[in-house]
Amino acid sequence: MLQKENILIVDDDINILELIQRHLQALDYHTYKAVSVKEAVAILRDTDIDLLITDLKMPEVDGFQLIKFVSEHYPNIPKLVVTGYPSVQDALSAIKSGAVDYLVKPFTKDELKNAVIKSLSTKRKRKSIPEKSHQGKYNEIIGDSEAIKNVTQIIERVKDNKATIFISGESGTGKELVARSIHYNGKFSSAPFIAVNCGGIPENLLESELFGYVKGAFTGANDTREGFFQAANGGTVFLDEIGNASLAVQARLLRVLQEKEVVKVGARKGEKIDVRIIAATNGNLREMIAKETFREDLYYRLTVVEINVPPLRERKEDIPLLADKFLLKYGNEYKDRYITIDTEAKTLLLRYEWPGNIRELENVIQRAVIMCDRSIGVNDLPEVLKYQINFPEEGLLSLKEMEKKYIQKVLAATNNNQTKAAEILQIDRKTLRGKIKE
Ligand SMILES: Nc1ncnc2c1ncn2[C@@H]1O[C@H](COP(=O)(O)OP(=O)(O)OP(=O)(O)O)[C@@H](O)[C@H]1O
Ligand SMILES: [Mg+2]
Repeated sequence: MLQKENILIVDDDINILELIQRHLQALDYHTYKAVSVKEAVAILRDTDIDLLITDLKMPEVDGFQLIKFVSEHYPNIPKLVVTGYPSVQDALSAIKSGAVDYLVKPFTKDELKNAVIKSLSTKRKRKSIPEKSHQGKYNEIIGDSEAIKNVTQIIERVKDNKATIFISGESGTGKELVARSIHYNGKFSSAPFIAVNCGGIPENLLESELFGYVKGAFTGANDTREGFFQAANGGTVFLDEIGNASLAVQARLLRVLQEKEVVKVGARKGEKIDVRIIAATNGNLREMIAKETFREDLYYRLTVVEINVPPLRERKEDIPLLADKFLLKYGNEYKDRYITIDTEAKTLLLRYEWPGNIRELENVIQRAVIMCDRSIGVNDLPEVLKYQINFPEEGLLSLKEMEKKYIQKVLAATNNNQTKAAEILQIDRKTLRGKIKE
């Protein structure tokens, strides 16, 4: 398959985003969308982007800051600004902050195409050394709690052998971080680590990407190709969101685990491979087995060693350490200095239940660092943290009762300010008034 160039498009206007995306897809580029700078930064961290296309005026953090950030951290990525009615001042600032080219809305398909080709041509040759090194990731598993020590102890025991590992845990708890640290701290760290999101790729594509295919296996299979399993030989394949793998993929995986061989799509014979498999999910595979959407035999093969990454609310003592790490990271990134956090704000961090776990904590601190002056205060934190409501353990409630209780608590917490309450509940005021009447 031809290597497509990855273009990241950032605009808070979803219509513009999709318009640009359609044009670029028609030109056979691979596109990523972000509606905010925050989202864009996350994509940049995880993806090898070849060109950034960004709007300037966006709420929270604007395009100028994104351009500056990319210039500093990813100097090889060219930047193209797309914006409506730019002032001379804006245009100058954009160019000064490192933008390569400027495209004014509305633009034609051809204008976009030419600007993209021109910007991409300025891209310096990709560095042969990856920009982000994954070495030492192990030290990045932050935490002092018994729960996290348990996890690192298991990592210590499994990192140097090829036993299959299954990582479970809620979203944002650090499953991928654990998988990477197993690989990069072990004996086989010089061999590849290949992460595959089983939910992110269409079913038949996933099959050929993982296992490879032989010439003529399907239309477009003009050559025999190796899949990820063979590409990772000697190293690790990380199967993220394993619950999303189709039954066909599951059957092939079972063979990999049982026979230590892969069968390319369209091939009859298997080929020996030597890889460690790490699988992860935040779903419930047992439930899927009951519904016959996940193979029980595969489940037992995958769960030889199981690592459960505990939710953050069960290891709140780790919050200050994690917060410090993110303060340092984002202080460096956005403010060129260490940002502190006041006691009141820290208390809120400790009180909150963090349903989105460490990823949510990281996002909250990232945003607060951007918003604050020198020190993070309560007002730099999102509303949900200020109105954290803990339900007493009073047994199970029906959804209706739960809703009623929750609305009452939010109203109490906001001194019956319906506008504020509606905002926190993320419903409009009319709906809230209806519910109060009810
Ligand atoms: N113990 C930790 N110390 C420091 N950073 C952590 C820790 N755990 C997680 N993180 C960070 O939190 C973020 C989320 O972690 P990760 O992507 O590994 O979670 P996940 O469990 O795979 O989430 P999902 O189920 O949503 O895919 C990452 O930026 C990761 O580096
Ligand atoms: Mg993950």
